[in-house]
Amino acid sequence: MEIQLTINDEPTSAEVGPDDDLATVLRRNGYTGVKCGCDGGVCGASKVFVNDEVRMACGVDARDADDAEIETIESLGSQDDLHPIQEAFVDHFAVQCGFCIPGMIIEAKSLLADNPDPSEAEVREAIDDNLCRCTGYQKPVEAILDAADRLRDDRSVAADGGPEAGPTNGADDGDTDD
Ligand code: FES
Ligand code: FES
Repeated sequence: MEIQLTINDEPTSAEVGPDDDLATVLRRNGYTGVKCGCDGGVCGASKVFVNDEVRMACGVDARDADDAEIETIESLGSQDDLHPIQEAFVDHFAVQCGFCIPGMIIEAKSLLADNPDPSEAEVREAIDDNLCRCTGYQKPVEAILDAADRLRDDRSVAADGGPEAGPTNGADDGDTDD
């Protein structure tokens, strides 16, 4: 069957089979920032926003995503204009192979939208279902705490009437392992 999706603000039609999950369909349509690390809802690498809620796309039946609004990591920054969360991950050397990073950043974006000033414990709890096989978690946690500071600074500059800083749309997922 054909389903209609809005992916990163782009209306998209996709042909899906009865066994297709959303992660497979997104990757097939070029959104390779969505990673499949376990295919079983365990690793968090396939996290995307579905109608503004973080979901592991590998666990969403593609047919159930008909008419859904999807946001993937590709909607954040570009290589030349990183989102503040991506910038913080780079600056804290929180990226090794990069495989888990799109899912972590999607979860971080969700956390910081709901809780702009999280404690370290709250950050650790938010990403407790994002598995990283490379770095451990200290640097990603530091990066997310720093991203919270950056986003709060951006908001206060915007509130003061300065240039609005923040995410821009782009095509690059900022990881190194498509
Ligand atoms: S591939 Fe979806 S959670 Fe691991
Ligand atoms: S950076 Fe390699 S799995 Fe997390």
